[in-house]
Amino acid sequence: MALRLGDDAPDFTADTTQGPVSFHQWKGNSWAVLFSHPKDFTPVCTTELGAVAALKPEFDRRNTRIIGLSVDPVESHRKWEGDIRDVTGHTVNFPMIGDPDRKVATLYDMLHPNASDTTTVRSVFVIGPDNKVKLTLTYPAATGRNFQELLRVIDSLQLTAQHSVATPADWKQGEDVIIVTSVSDEDAKKKFPKGFETKKPYLRTTAQPG
Ligand code: BEZ
Repeated sequence: MALRLGDDAPDFTADTTQGPVSFHQWKGNSWAVLFSHPKDFTPVCTTELGAVAALKPEFDRRNTRIIGLSVDPVESHRKWEGDIRDVTGHTVNFPMIGDPDRKVATLYDMLHPNASDTTTVRSVFVIGPDNKVKLTLTYPAATGRNFQELLRVIDSLQLTAQHSVATPADWKQGEDVIIVTSVSDEDAKKKFPKGFETKKPYLRTTAQPG
């Protein structure tokens, strides 16, 4: 069954390039990104894995662990890592799950038969410290993902988990945010001492808190 926002992220054990992983234990109280790749030794995936490796310090800064998956075995992932380093200049610095029996792919509904019977689509799951699914993305095999956007979304998820705010279109770290409508003007004055602007009764903006 498809995983939806707010669902428990299923636990699993899997073989990875960094040894066996028991997912919930590996993740602990951190945030996590679980993302799938259709297949090893494919061009788009090669560029994606190098891009994520380059951004690992940014995920670390956000207390977010990263784990990749493809349906090929771990020995194949290890051989592929040499190519990824050659092409992108970045060493894969996070575990890659080998999932030849499609156990994890099936658990997370990463196989979309109308796209491919055998390989996963490009799924992304952002999972919170409470092990709930906070965000899902599904891209087709031919479209590489924008991992800066993933960092931007994690910033929003972490901010909105802590404060009674939402983030507007194209928001970036440091920009003004929206006060959620469940907060009255009276409470907003206390919660947001720098003040707020009422553009419409349902659209009030304030400086990013925290
Ligand atoms: C790729 O990563 O380049 C790719 C993988 C599967 C199908 C199409 C492209």
